[in-house]
Amino acid sequence: MIPPKQVQEILDATRIEEVIEEFVTLKRRGVNLIGLCPFHGERTPSFNVNPARNIFKCFGCGKAGDAITFLKEHENLTYPEALRWLARKYHIEVQEIERTPEQLAEIQLADSLYIVNEFALQHFQQQLFDTDEGKSVALAYFRKRGLREDTIRAFGLGYAPDERDLLLRKARSTGHSPELLKKTGLISQDDSRDFFRARVMFAIHNMSGKVAAFAGRTMSAEKTIPKYINSPETEIYVKNKILYGAYQAKKAIRQLDECLLVEGYMDVISLHQAGIENVVASSGTSLTDGQLQLIRRNTQNLKILYDGDPAGIKAALRGLDLALEQDLNVRICLLPDGHDPDSYVQEFGGEQFKKYTTENAKDFIFFKTDLLLGETKGDPIKRAGLVKDIVSSIARIPDPIKRSVYLKECSALLEVSEEVLHAEANKLIGQTIRKKEEKAARQPGAASDHSMPPPPVWSDDFTQATDPGAFFPPTEAGELPPEWGEASAPRPVERKAAAEYQERDIIRLLIQFGGQVLPHEQTTVGEYVLADIEESLGDFDNPLYSRVAAECHALLMEGKSFDQHYFIQHESADVANLAIDVLAEPWEFSPNWEAMWNYPLQNQPMPERNFILDMKQALDRFKLKKVQKMCALNLTRVQNASKEGDHDAMIRYMKIQQKLNETRNEIAQRVGTVVFGK
Ligand code: CTP
Ligand code: MN
Repeated sequence: MIPPKQVQEILDATRIEEVIEEFVTLKRRGVNLIGLCPFHGERTPSFNVNPARNIFKCFGCGKAGDAITFLKEHENLTYPEALRWLARKYHIEVQEIERTPEQLAEIQLADSLYIVNEFALQHFQQQLFDTDEGKSVALAYFRKRGLREDTIRAFGLGYAPDERDLLLRKARSTGHSPELLKKTGLISQDDSRDFFRARVMFAIHNMSGKVAAFAGRTMSAEKTIPKYINSPETEIYVKNKILYGAYQAKKAIRQLDECLLVEGYMDVISLHQAGIENVVASSGTSLTDGQLQLIRRNTQNLKILYDGDPAGIKAALRGLDLALEQDLNVRICLLPDGHDPDSYVQEFGGEQFKKYTTENAKDFIFFKTDLLLGETKGDPIKRAGLVKDIVSSIARIPDPIKRSVYLKECSALLEVSEEVLHAEANKLIGQTIRKKEEKAARQPGAASDHSMPPPPVWSDDFTQATDPGAFFPPTEAGELPPEWGEASAPRPVERKAAAEYQERDIIRLLIQFGGQVLPHEQTTVGEYVLADIEESLGDFDNPLYSRVAAECHALLMEGKSFDQHYFIQHESADVANLAIDVLAEPWEFSPNWEAMWNYPLQNQPMPERNFILDMKQALDRFKLKKVQKMCALNLTRVQNASKEGDHDAMIRYMKIQQKLNETRNEIAQRVGTVVFGK
């Protein structure tokens, strides 16, 4: 466990942009940084990072949070792991309190799976380097395949001897639970045998360098033994989201702005050793969306290096339409007869490899055209099918300029007029758009972007402010009945939300400044606000806001404090989301707002520059709203009493009404709103 004092130290040192930049390329845009969202596939950046508030938000998919949230979501880390990750990054030495066996059992599953894998890695490495058998059999094998010791260590290679349960026994004697080894697939389900035996081992890392899984290669040439066996999928090893070598390649891919894709483990390792570091492997499977997104986050240029026969290549090509959809520039390079990247680079060296692949890489579309043309051999029916096939690939390219360049070139290659190709492509694009729209219509929660209302204008005059909740279309769109037209839709929602605006503002104050001490006073904003509205605490209309207010109140009663971080990390997801939304509201609109609505945005004052005024105004607006509500309620009482002829009651209620009106006018004057008395 990390002591609380150190947790604070870590959080204080953390700068969100530095953390996120390890994974996402960010560009400065005003006070924020923007980039392509790592949580969903996109081509125009809507992923915003706000350094001043230490939070991020994606306006495309809605993911948001602080550095801890980012690491948890993106790297699949637990809270303590994320803290340790940050501590390492900022060179803060964590004095962890020693874990007892009970605590060990308590830490989260993912955490423990990584620990078990790390233990196994050390075991495999020890078997490789420190045993006679390892040295004479496995290390010799790697050497024979041309690997240097530094490479072997950098890629976490190891050895699993041909013994029934060596790893299992070692685990038992060092206090690692067989149950967890079973979960990671390191031992058999009846937990009596090691899964990897008589194999050289490859550690498979996730993007942050943790061991997520293993692969083991047999050293035997016996055809009946599978060449490679791999760990099963687990909580920490989701195959379609991991690319072998990505951790070691990440930096080079960004620097060179290109990613090489090969098939095998040995291809990655040999190329890396030869100084070609921007290389990852799909590990023998066809590419998935998740893997392509991993690549797309780091570069737009993908070069595929294949050794396969034409049939295998054709199968692989199918997966590559996905790459075009991700707006990747895909090039393909076939290696000469009988070579894979590993054997080629081992025989001819890195420089020759670079030369060869630069000279022989073909643009994906032309590669495909050539390949299929060779097959049709003048058969007109097959040829027509081929044209459709190629055009359907081109139609997936989102960039219209690129698309039209390809169509032009293909028209020459296929000897079909450009107009015909354009018409065919447009037909397909139209179909895709219609399908998407139909899908969106079926899911009311996921209404398309076009249903967004124009953005509200932020002004100093808060009385004109519209509901900030409306800044974020997903919530709002989610409330619209699907049959409502665009023009009429936002109205009723806006009004309902507007009634909650004052409550939301109080909650924002509590979240944003709750722990802040008021100058010249001994209280925090949280204490001040809650003391000021104590009698209205039960009157919140919105149940979520009501819960947050009550929780803040309870915390203060227990002598505890709270801050922004407390809410962002809240165990209840709706509170955490609310925290992000209120924190994000005043600083940034969706990057698409201006373009989409042709609606210039005004600059907004940063509330933290003047949080006392902000607080007092918010409190007044909140109270005004509540008093207005009481006025209306009381007025009906007056009217009812009058109808029923209950004179005494009427007098009593009218006195109350007078008092309420006075209070209302007093507050209204402070906030500068004209109230039309009834
Ligand atoms: N693969 C696998 N299981 C197999 C065969 C292959 O998982 N039984 C995956 C591995 O990731 C392997 C890749 O497919 O690296 C490519 O397979 P292959 O070309 O047969 O192997 P190489 O990578 O060339 O391996 P080596 O050079 O060690 O023979
Ligand atoms: Mn090979």
